[in-house]
Formats: sequence, C-alpha cells, structure tokens
Amino acid sequence: MTSPDTAERPFALTSRPGAEWWCSAVIYQIYPRSFADSSGDGIGDLPGVTAHLDDLVDLGVDAIWLSPFQRSPQKDAGYDVADYCDVDPLFGTLADFDVMLAEAHGRGIRIIVDLVPNHSSDQHEWFQAALAAAPGSRERARYLFRDGKGTAGELPPNNWESVFGGPAWTRLVEADGTLGQWYLHLFDASQPDFDWSNEDVRELFRGVLRFWLDRGVDGFRVDVAHGLIKAAGLPDYTPPVEADSMGGDEPDVPYWGQPGVHDVYRDWHGILAAYDGDRALCAEAWRPTPDETALWVRSDEMHQAFNFPYLTTGWDAAELRAVIDESLRAFAAVGAPSTWVLSNHDVIRHASRLALTAENPQGHGIGPDSVGKPIADLGLRRARAATAVMLALPGSAYIYQGEELGLPEVVDLPDTARQDPTWFRTAGERYGRDGCRVPVPWSSSQPAYGFSATGESWLPQPSSWARLARDVQESDPESTLALYRTLLAERRSHALGTGALEWVDGFPDDVLAFRNGNVTVIANLGDASIPLPHGNVIAASEPLVGGILPADTAVWLEAAQA
Ligand code: GLC
Repeated sequence: MTSPDTAERPFALTSRPGAEWWCSAVIYQIYPRSFADSSGDGIGDLPGVTAHLDDLVDLGVDAIWLSPFQRSPQKDAGYDVADYCDVDPLFGTLADFDVMLAEAHGRGIRIIVDLVPNHSSDQHEWFQAALAAAPGSRERARYLFRDGKGTAGELPPNNWESVFGGPAWTRLVEADGTLGQWYLHLFDASQPDFDWSNEDVRELFRGVLRFWLDRGVDGFRVDVAHGLIKAAGLPDYTPPVEADSMGGDEPDVPYWGQPGVHDVYRDWHGILAAYDGDRALCAEAWRPTPDETALWVRSDEMHQAFNFPYLTTGWDAAELRAVIDESLRAFAAVGAPSTWVLSNHDVIRHASRLALTAENPQGHGIGPDSVGKPIADLGLRRARAATAVMLALPGSAYIYQGEELGLPEVVDLPDTARQDPTWFRTAGERYGRDGCRVPVPWSSSQPAYGFSATGESWLPQPSSWARLARDVQESDPESTLALYRTLLAERRSHALGTGALEWVDGFPDDVLAFRNGNVTVIANLGDASIPLPHGNVIAASEPLVGGILPADTAVWLEAAQA
C-alpha cells in the first residue's frame, strides 16, 4: 500500500550518514488532549493541531511528536490502545490525521507518532478474545496469563508491582463465574502486557509500523521501549523503597532492559530502512546511565533515545557537566546523536522541578499536601537558563508543549479533577502526572484561554495562566516565548545541532561554560553574579545589565568572525 504522501515526500533525502534530520532536530511534543480543542468538548484534537501549525513554524521547531491519538478507552490518556490503526473519535478521524500530516509536511515540519507496544488496552480485540478463550490457547498466549500460586491459585504468580502502584497482576473471573488465571500489567489493570516472545505479537506490530509509515509518518516514539521482554520464569523482584517508578535508577530489574528486547528493534530497523525519507525510531527507555541508554541506539536498532539521565539531573553545574560529557561520549561510541530533554507528560514541568524544595521521585507528582513545593519565580528563572543550555548542545532536543510559555506544574488541581491512574491506584498517596498535563493557554481573554471555544477543559486551568497565555507573550520581548524563539532561531543559524562541544574553563565551579562553533554559552548556576565576558550577546535567559551575569542565568555570546 502506498499513500499519496509516500509517493511525493516533501523532504529531501540526506546524502550523508550523520546528516539525517533526526541527528539535530528540535522535536516538539504535542499531548493532543491538552493542546487545542476544535470541537469544544474540552479535549484537544487533531484539527486543533492543524489549526496551530503556523504557531509551531513561528516558534521554529523541526518536527512534532504526537502522544497517542489512536482508538482507546482513555484509561491512561491514550496509552491504552484498543486499535493501533485508527484514530479515536475524541481526536477526530484518519482523514483528519492525513490533513494534519500533509499540512505539517507542507510547512517543512515532520511528524512522529507514539507507538505503544508493551501493552494494549483490555478492550483490544485480542485481549477480549483471550478472555473468551481457554487457558493454554493461542489467544491467551499473546498476553502474559499465568496460574496463581497457593492451594487454589489465590496468590498472584509473583510479587511484581505496577508502575502506577498496587499489584501488577489481576485475576480473571472466567465466563462460568469461577476465578481463573491472572494476567500481568506493569501499568494499569486496563493495560495488559503482551508476551513479546509470541510471533503473533511481533507480526501485529510489523503491520502497525507499516500502516503509519505508508501514511507518511516520519517515525515513532516507542513507549516503554525497555519493558517488552520479561526475564524467563518471571522471578520475584522487590524494588528499593524509594525506587523511581520507571526503574530508571535500578539495576537488574526482571522487566526492564532485558537483553532480548533489542532483537525487536533490529527487526523494526529493517522495516523502517525499506522506506525512503530517513524515518526514525525514538526509545522511551528509562535507564540509569547514558551508557545503558545508548544500547537502544546501536547502529542496527533505534535512531534516538530520550536522555533521561540528563532530564533527572538537578540544577548543579558539576553534575550537568558530567552527564553532558557522559552522554556525548556514550552516544558517539555507538555512532548515534545525543538527545536532550527537560520536560514531558510524565514528569514535573521543569519550570517547577528545578526549584522543588524536597526530593520527588518521577511519577509521584506534586499536589496541595506535598512537602517540598516549588518556589515559583526561581523555578521559571532556572528553567529559562536550563533551556538556554539545552538548546545549545549538539544533537537533537525535545521540548514539551507549554514549556515555551514557561508553564509551571499545576500543584493545586482539585482531587475531583485528577485522572492519572497513579492517583487512583495509590488511593491518593501519589498525585501522579495530571499537573503537567493542564491544557495550553493560547489567548488571555477567551474562554479556557482559547484552548476550546466553549470554555470546556478536561483539567481546570489556573487563573494565574491568563498572564502566561501565548497572545500576551507574543508582544513581550522578554517573555519565555520570545526567549524560545530566539534560542531556536540562533540554534538554527549557528547550526548548533550539528556542532561539537568544547568546555571553557576559568570560571567558578558553579558556572557551566562551553563553546559550540562560534557560540559560547555561559550559565551561572551559583548564587552570586559573575562578570560577563566580552562578546556579542545573541541570547540571554534574563535581561542583562551592568556587565554582569546574574545568578540562575545563561547567555549565548557570539565570537567575532576571524
Ligand atoms: C510511558 C508513557 C506514560 C504511560 C506509560 C504506560 O511511560 O509516557 O504516559 O503512562 O508509558 O503506557
């Protein structure tokens, strides 16, 4: 099957390995339900994305990653997929998708879509067939059904816990009303894990990849790319007490990073390579170090992997320098570009995270009763400086919708509004991720700040967001939006994405200073101002006065041309 788009791809092929678009692209994450709502039901949709493409051109991004819009009961905001090859009516139709893709391509913006292969929705036809079939059947073999332990199978097959809290196993009530086998779900009970040793599962996903590649997508962000293969025998595992919920800090977990997972991506690499246009795979693999993350981007596997060790590094010059060095070395060692990311739909927004006053494990979230709430102004100031550092680094960078407006995490959502399964599965002990998913404010004077014409919004927006709305920031040269535009334009004109980093020494320990081509970046992470070196200031995360670089501020200086 070929779509019209495949026949007439708007992008030139690269002639040189290492120059492919994904090596240096800035990729903007759209979380569709919170981006722009064209239908007025309070949930963003694909026509809403199409309507705002010019705003993304104006911002200066190269590509969009769309979080899931496929058919789904929305138990985990679309990460519970019931049909991998259709659009959920909440978000529009396949025809809306095709229009959005063509309109994006027409503006030179590439589109990568989310692929969720670790688990399906319990409403997927295969899981429904598995429920109707007998233990030991071909239908059950596509998922991880097991008999329980104990004299009557009343105990789960092992002690694994769900990432969202509670047990990772649910017991079936069989058609005749008796209690039956258990099935594994690393996430919500509505998200049964596939058995990736099963050839039917592998073949299903080959077809899913081809379906979207044929429609013309430029690649996939692969959800839970470290989780597909489970250790033989499903051995018990007890995480450390304060474990990161995606296992990013834990070694030897029987469901994360099992070696066999890489065969899946070698297979997919071949499928993408048969298409024109440098299609790419990006791994969401929460691994503890850049070296371990780099295993996903060896030359015959994926093309990119999110750099979570970078995202989880605090506001500390020595630690940042170390993780940047390790990343550049580890990814280069396998011939892959580094990627950089500070925010996404699973973590506390960096405009709040960088000024938390207590440790907060990823996925736990922050709410009205949390200890360690962020210091708002400090968070935004650090976030602007952190972004100025990130966007000067060689490689590809991801930005999450709303960070270009400096949106903070919403801490005071009412409990009744919360929808993250984490909140429900921990009986409110963990707030979860809703606070980073509040719909984008486009226009200060309109209902729902222009998110939807009716004023509906699936999560309430704080009244303080009127002053953060995009239309207000558009006319303010000191706004966070203006800063992002400047950084993205200068990054492009100085080709920083394809450049190389060289540290500049001679500054105090809490200053990060490096050169990329003829741009010198100096970030002051300390408490005291430092003298600003000479040079032509092409971007600054805060206004500069009096020849000094204040605390929590980053600047880009251009060296005079030789
Ligand atoms: C990934 C997604 C997250 C989702 C989980 C289960 O981590 O980013 O939002 O809840 O996988 O699919």
